[in-house]
Amino acid sequence: MNDHHISTKFTVFDNQSELSSIENELLNKAIQARDSAYAPYSSFNVGAAVILDNDQVFLGNNQENAAYPSGICAERVAIWSAMSAIPHGKIKQIFISARSEKTKVNRPVAPCGACRQAIAEYETRQKENIEIFFAGETGKIVKAYSIKDLLPWMFDNSMLS
Ligand code: THU
Repeated sequence: MNDHHISTKFTVFDNQSELSSIENELLNKAIQARDSAYAPYSSFNVGAAVILDNDQVFLGNNQENAAYPSGICAERVAIWSAMSAIPHGKIKQIFISARSEKTKVNRPVAPCGACRQAIAEYETRQKENIEIFFAGETGKIVKAYSIKDLLPWMFDNSMLS
């Protein structure tokens, strides 16, 4: 029997002004996308901005549906928009911002499990880490350096062969 320990790396920024100017700009794009989310059922608006290795930026926001499971998260809208437009693009970073119409979201909102799995797919394929920045409406911002920091022991295609 062996005990193991996985540690994950992340940086916490006190506020947006601690980000580099390009990162600050990208988080602003996620905020802009967030503010046009279609979230009439949860009133929880999420926006995402994905930047590729060619510096193209793709945005997404959550799109809900009266049949609740038919809705989709902001991160997957942005990621799939990027990957469908630029099939061999590599994702450098994803920025996520969330706010609620019901309460003040003053802490970082991490991507859900399904979105982590979607990020894992492309990080595995491109063999280069994807940095993930996530924020609430106010408060601290978290930067993870790889999807492995958010999804240790992830399932990937190596398990299919
Ligand atoms: N949501 C996202 O867009 N991203 C996440 O990572 C977490 C949740 C959306 C889905 C749903 O429209 C609303 O937030 C409440 O769960």
